[in-house]
Amino acid sequence: MSTSEKKTVLSGMRPTGPLHLGNYVGALRNWIRLQDTHRCFYSIVTWHALSSEYTNTKSLRNYTFEVAVDWIAAGLDPEKSVLFVQSEVKEHAELHLLLSMIVPLPWLERVPTFKEQQEQLRDRDLNTYGFLGYPLLQTADILVYKAQVVPVGEDQAFHLELAREITRRFNRFYGEVFPEPQMLLTEIPKLSGTDGRKMSKSYDNAIYMKDTPDIIRNKIATMVTDTRRKRRSDPGVPEDCPVFTLHKAFILPEKREELARGCRTAGIGCLECKTTVIDALTELFAAYRDKRRDLEAHPQTVWDILEEGNSRARDVARRTMEDVRSAMGL
Ligand code: TRP
Ligand code: SF4
Repeated sequence: MSTSEKKTVLSGMRPTGPLHLGNYVGALRNWIRLQDTHRCFYSIVTWHALSSEYTNTKSLRNYTFEVAVDWIAAGLDPEKSVLFVQSEVKEHAELHLLLSMIVPLPWLERVPTFKEQQEQLRDRDLNTYGFLGYPLLQTADILVYKAQVVPVGEDQAFHLELAREITRRFNRFYGEVFPEPQMLLTEIPKLSGTDGRKMSKSYDNAIYMKDTPDIIRNKIATMVTDTRRKRRSDPGVPEDCPVFTLHKAFILPEKREELARGCRTAGIGCLECKTTVIDALTELFAAYRDKRRDLEAHPQTVWDILEEGNSRARDVARRTMEDVRSAMGL
C-alpha cells in the first residue's frame, strides 16, 4: 500500500508509569499491528496526564520516558510510525482553544467520565476547566492530524462519539476541513490482576511488561485462582479464574481449551496451568527485554526518537492549522 492510500491513525496514552499487560493487550498490541497498514501517529499525552495529576508532576518526565521505552521495545517502530509527546506539539493546544469556542458546555458536562472520575478520585479536585475539557483536547489530538481511524477500547467510546459530533459541528460552520474520525474498537480481553480485581496500576496488582521473568513467575504463581479449586482434586471453572484471563489474552485457543478441560475435570493442577502462561509471557517478551536493556543503556536515543517524532508531528499539525485558521477567518 502506498503512503497516500493509507488511512491516518491517531491514538494516545497517558504517561502514568511503565505499561502493564492490560495496557499491552488493550492498546499497544493493536497499535503495533496497525503500523503496516496505516499511517500512524502515537502520542504520549502529557497534557491529559496533567488534567488529573496537576498537583503531582514530578514523575511526568520519567513516566514519559518509561512509556516511550515500552513502546519502542515492544515494537512501535519510529521508522514506520510517528511517536511523539503531545505537549511538544503546541498546535494541539491551539486547536483545543479554537474548538472550545464552538463546543456547547452541556456536551462536555454530560460526559460520563467527568462525574465518575470526580467521584472516584476524591483525593483531588477535578472540578477544573482543564478536566472538563479532557475530551475536547482528545478531539484536538485526533483532528490536528486529520486522523480517520482511532483505535481505542470500549471505555473511550463516549469520547469518540463526542469527537465525531464536534467534527460535524465544525465542518457545518466552516466547511469540510476534517474527516469524521472512525473509532476502531479494540476487542480487549479483560485482564485480572494478581488479586483477582481488574489489572490496574492503582490497585497494585499489575504485571508489568518490564517485570523480569522471575517477577512474572512469582506474581502468577501466587495469583488467586478459582476458589473452587482448594485441592488438586477439586474441579474448577476457568471462566471464574483470574489467571484464565491471562490465558485468554496470551494462549492460543487450542491449547487454552485443553487447559480449560483439565481445570474442569481436575486433570491438571493450577501450577501446571499457570506455568503455561508464565512460559508464554517469558517467550513473548524476550525480544522486548533485550531491546529495553539497549534503550535503557542509551536513554538519549529514546529522547532523540521522540524529538524526531515531535518534529514530524509538528509538520503535519502546522499544515492542518493553516487550513483551520483560514476556514475560521483568522
Ligand atoms: N483518553 C485516552 C485514554 O485515556 C487517551 C487519549 C488522549 C487518546 N488523546 C487521545 C486516545 C486521542 C485516542 C485518541 O486512553
Ligand atoms: Fe485457574 Fe488454571 Fe487453576 Fe483452573 S487450573 S483454577 S484455570 S489456574
